[in-house]
Amino acid sequence: MKLGVCYYPEQWPESYWQRDAQRMAEMGISHVRIAEFAWSLIEPQMGQWNWQWLDQIIDILAAQGLKIVLCTPTATPPKWLVDAHPEILPIDASGHIKHFGSRRHYCFSSQVFREHSRRISQAVVDRYGQHEAVVAWQTDNEYGCHFTVESFSKDAALAFRVWLKEKYGTVQALNKAWANIFWSQSYAHFDEVDPPYQAVTEILPIHQLDWKRFSSDQVKSFNLEQVKIIRQGSPARPVSHNFMGFFTEFDHYQVSQDLDIATLDSYPIGFTQMFFLNEDEKTKWAEVGHPDIPSFHYDLYKGMCKGNRWWIMEQQPGPVNWAHWNPIPKDGMVRLWSWQAFAHGCELVSYFRWRQTPYAQEQMHAGLLAPDDSLAQGALEVAQLSQEIKQFQNQAALSLQGKGLQSNQAKVALLFDYDSMWMSEISPQGKDFLGMEQVFRIYSALRSLALDVDIISTQTDLVGSQYQLIVLPAQWHVTETLRNQLEQIAAKNIPIVLAPRVGSKTQHLSISEPLAPGPLTALAGLKVKRVSSLPPGIQTEIVTQHNKPIEKHYVSRWLEDVECLSAKPYWTSIKNQIVVAKNSATYYVASWLMQDTWKVLFSELCLVHQIDFENLPEGIRVSRMSAPSITKVGKQEASSVVQNYQMVVNYSDQAHLWQPAEANSELLLGSAKVQAQQVSIWKVL
Ligand code: GAL
Repeated sequence: MKLGVCYYPEQWPESYWQRDAQRMAEMGISHVRIAEFAWSLIEPQMGQWNWQWLDQIIDILAAQGLKIVLCTPTATPPKWLVDAHPEILPIDASGHIKHFGSRRHYCFSSQVFREHSRRISQAVVDRYGQHEAVVAWQTDNEYGCHFTVESFSKDAALAFRVWLKEKYGTVQALNKAWANIFWSQSYAHFDEVDPPYQAVTEILPIHQLDWKRFSSDQVKSFNLEQVKIIRQGSPARPVSHNFMGFFTEFDHYQVSQDLDIATLDSYPIGFTQMFFLNEDEKTKWAEVGHPDIPSFHYDLYKGMCKGNRWWIMEQQPGPVNWAHWNPIPKDGMVRLWSWQAFAHGCELVSYFRWRQTPYAQEQMHAGLLAPDDSLAQGALEVAQLSQEIKQFQNQAALSLQGKGLQSNQAKVALLFDYDSMWMSEISPQGKDFLGMEQVFRIYSALRSLALDVDIISTQTDLVGSQYQLIVLPAQWHVTETLRNQLEQIAAKNIPIVLAPRVGSKTQHLSISEPLAPGPLTALAGLKVKRVSSLPPGIQTEIVTQHNKPIEKHYVSRWLEDVECLSAKPYWTSIKNQIVVAKNSATYYVASWLMQDTWKVLFSELCLVHQIDFENLPEGIRVSRMSAPSITKVGKQEASSVVQNYQMVVNYSDQAHLWQPAEANSELLLGSAKVQAQQVSIWKVL
């Protein structure tokens, strides 16, 4: 449970550095991330090195006992490199070059850029790889930010053809898999295949999908080149990369295979404004962030790397500058989001940024300090948090060597798959059938029932797991391995919930055979005969299982015409359409459900399958976690016992009285009446 900060010494006079480092240490910050945008300062001209400033700041930070997370600076190629090699610039789908003048102006497929990315990474690693204060690395910065995963450059086209050849072997096989017979799209040679750009109308779906898969692989291989250099020159230091929110343009599981720590850039208020929430939700949560947005990402990224290591590399410390509207977070939220991250097993929360800059693109983005060097609200909360962590660690007798808190074995597994996300983006069939929204709504419904959730990849071993409920929120394509696992789970009578469109597509983004749910036909015991996407305004009331609707629930956006084989209707609409069908313990949902309706469904299923849950008031969230507690006998550390904790956070404006269900719980932080924007932690026996 450590605190960190993102620092840009190059943006401030040298005379500030010493004092900055001192203040960070006094505030309880232990880690400082530096240099991800500093290429042109490190190497002002090709092969001319300017290390003096970086040597100096690293020494200053180290002298205060601060640990450094050093970055490869490849997110900002310098102007001299761009001028010498304009071919490194990314090209958008309309063929326009994205020029120098901001950041991320490179193409992942550019061979020339790759050479320079390896060269600068090697130079930084050679210089600091063995430095005592350098404790971890970050590769680049936010792969894909500003829509930069895909680039339609010449190098990308060449690499795409090689990728296709490796995948399909012969062009005949490609023609068959892509169904190029349609609209005369066949190719005679791989060299004829272009990236999918600028066609008259919709481009072949599998062409788009393979392009996305290829582009994602390019991110992975680009990252791996840097990781190899770091591992060789800086052994035993973990390598990380900072991922973004609701971002699906590359497969994060694939990239994470090569990392030690997955890190998140967490901007709860910015995300609330910029994603699919409706206007009422955006207003309601404007100054605190939607209560499930932070933990959605915590629960996604916590499982990315082996050993479940994850950090927040950037957390918003106040208002940001990049959303449509940028409200100031309510007092307490910076601390609340951070505590909540620790409850989900986060090892380090680092804030973006130390001091707000008075100039350039991000001048309106808050820092822990204001531009005039005074402490901003974020800094006050960080200082408080750092005291509380110490106090908590003492009270809880947490082993300081240990990993801190870990989230408990969750009851629910939510399967998340980037390939299926791409399928949903390419072929939505209804404008508002948004795969990512569906995943988030389902997650949010589960969290509002006080259920802990692991968001996991389809490669996870489900059969050997302890999950009490498995949900497939947007699994458009189901592999044989996954089908196999699910059938074994079903044989154990563990409930499985399948959301609409599961198994509806082959790996080539064609309609499954048998029809949806394709490979899961036997499991779901039904066949989806026809599907209908419903324009806004068309909705039909649902009759839920217990047939005593307190609130009305509706089918909207999407409804399937389902034929039951062995399944039985579970929920129907008032027009007698099947909304949910049940086959033993497997439930198939044949419609888009609103979040509250998912909540009703899950609470019914929890009752039926005896899974403990609780109906939480709006804005209240609970997380369960554990940590080894070391008891000291004299000077000796004795046995370590695993201790359980419960954390309640309050995103709402009303105080809420909470009592853990477990007898003998002891309040360690906050009050039993959890105040607005506050946090309480109990030790539970
Ligand atoms: C992140 C990025 C940072 C900074 C920040 C502002 O996306 O990694 O460099 O731009 O956003 O919120």
